[in-house]
Amino acid sequence: MKKRFSLFNAYVWGIAGLGIILLATHIPEFQDGYTVADVIFIGVMVACGEAVAVPFPRGKGTASMATPLMFTAIVMYGPAIGMWVAALATLRKRDLTGEVPLGVVLFNRGMLTVCAYVFAKVYGLMYGGFGSIEFPRGLFAFVLAASAFTLLNAILIGQGLALQLRTSFTSIWRRNIVWMLPNMFALFPVGALMVLVVQQTGPLVLVFFYLPLLVTKVSLQKYIDLWETYSEMAAALSIALDARDSYTHGHSVRVSEYSGKLAKRLGLGDEEVELIKYVGLLHDVGKVGMSDSLLKKEGPFTYDEYEMMKKHSEIGADIIKVMKFLGKGEQWVRHHHERSDGTGFPDGLAGEEIPLGARIIACADAFDAMTTDRPYKEKMSYEEAKKELLACSGSQFDPKVVEAMVQIIDQELLRK
Ligand SMILES: [Fe+2]
Ligand SMILES: [Fe+2]
Repeated sequence: MKKRFSLFNAYVWGIAGLGIILLATHIPEFQDGYTVADVIFIGVMVACGEAVAVPFPRGKGTASMATPLMFTAIVMYGPAIGMWVAALATLRKRDLTGEVPLGVVLFNRGMLTVCAYVFAKVYGLMYGGFGSIEFPRGLFAFVLAASAFTLLNAILIGQGLALQLRTSFTSIWRRNIVWMLPNMFALFPVGALMVLVVQQTGPLVLVFFYLPLLVTKVSLQKYIDLWETYSEMAAALSIALDARDSYTHGHSVRVSEYSGKLAKRLGLGDEEVELIKYVGLLHDVGKVGMSDSLLKKEGPFTYDEYEMMKKHSEIGADIIKVMKFLGKGEQWVRHHHERSDGTGFPDGLAGEEIPLGARIIACADAFDAMTTDRPYKEKMSYEEAKKELLACSGSQFDPKVVEAMVQIIDQELLRK
């Protein structure tokens, strides 16, 4: 363990050192065609890039203007100035106040310098020079150089994270990096356009690139706030429901958690995972329409009571339908008591006819019911509940979902 930790240190300081060597051997020289003020201006623009960075929903990073501006600096003013701008203009306040460890600050400088160097090398090789750019030949060189920069940047960060977290590079790459790449590549055309505009009119015009970003940032922030409101609303509803029935307190929250984990294991996309968490939270919301005597009844139901209780999935679906942001969640709530063999309710759907979301929630729901104390029965251990799920796989539950739940029990719940 100690060895890997020092490997991480060696990696961080190695990249930082490489950056320092590159900077020391590339001292900027000012030539005709641009002034020190132009370079300082573009440096300030890079520094402001973070301030207008547009956040991606659900905390998944930001689209920053800093990178395409760095590309512009390299193409217009050459490798040396480009590398110094990349290293210095990207310093943030917290890098300077000691909030971020010195090693990390220097690693980031080193990484950006190395990436800028590689960009300059590729671009220089493909295009043959700096200071002006001619389309479309220059565009090809630009995209190639920007791709090299982006990939190298992702690899260096990924490797650093892998060493720090003592995990494999591929798992970091899959979990933290891959989704980021399309966002980074999407900024290339903006970068190319910036270079073209700076070449025609000078760097001042770059200010105009910030305006649409600012507008996007404000509207995206509103969208994020709206989702937060939705999730608070869903949470409030589930708390209200659980409060009526103290025995099932926390049930909705746990079903939501298990459903999210299952959806992830089954390879559903981020949006579906997010949606199923909301719907899992509200899967029994139809019980608000049930009387207290029914909800709190200890022991078996009469036929009429059972028929009454069964209605909660349809009532729930009607409630979810009103919340347009939950989309197909309505169907998941309606069918969360269907069984794979077709003997469930309300519609007696079987196998794949039951929407996947409903099959997932059904399994999460049953697992939580088995593993929590109820007035009329003692809770089962995770091992016992696992056996029960396996015994009902194919009849009550979807075997695929049970398989994923077993993995969650073995790898996450039993290890806690
Ligand atoms: Fe239910
Ligand atoms: Fe439930």
